[in-house]
Amino acid sequence: MEKTVVLIKPDGVQRALIGKITERFEQKGLHLVAMKMMALDDATLDVWYAHHSDKPFFPALKSYMKSYPIIAMLWEGIDAAETVRTMIGITLGRKAAPGTVRGDFAMSQQYNLIHASESKEAAEKEAGLIFSDKEIFPWKKLDLTQIYSEEELQ
Ligand code: CMP
Repeated sequence: MEKTVVLIKPDGVQRALIGKITERFEQKGLHLVAMKMMALDDATLDVWYAHHSDKPFFPALKSYMKSYPIIAMLWEGIDAAETVRTMIGITLGRKAAPGTVRGDFAMSQQYNLIHASESKEAAEKEAGLIFSDKEIFPWKKLDLTQIYSEEELQ
């Protein structure tokens, strides 16, 4: 099944939103297969945000992402990347739709609490940057037959 990476950014950790944010993905029916607290470094951020390296906000983005620890998670599900992106809302927190993570908890463009992979391919690259094989747990989720139909699980 598809996997996607979620980071609770330093502002989400500081604002004590780890539980509230994680609960949403658990309740949705996504399957948590990796989770850890970590500090991001320049080398990782340069690759992670390579597509933003020419933007004026890049130095500020890097310094924000290194300011405090983050929580990194890997969630599994059918269409996981698209599903999680819908659940987090648009970048600008104050304009994000109510019901999304950013829409409910964020006001800022930079301090927008959460990162989620843009696509399945981006998730594979991001997971490789922060998780070792030993940190990923392919445990059997017993309620999958109540979350998806038999046809969807084939
Ligand atoms: P995200 O969309 O997850 O990935 C890129 C991040 O850069 C974005 O969240 C914000 O945290 C940050 N960002 C985007 N635009 C700006 C901006 N104009 N000024 C500062 N930070 C930004």
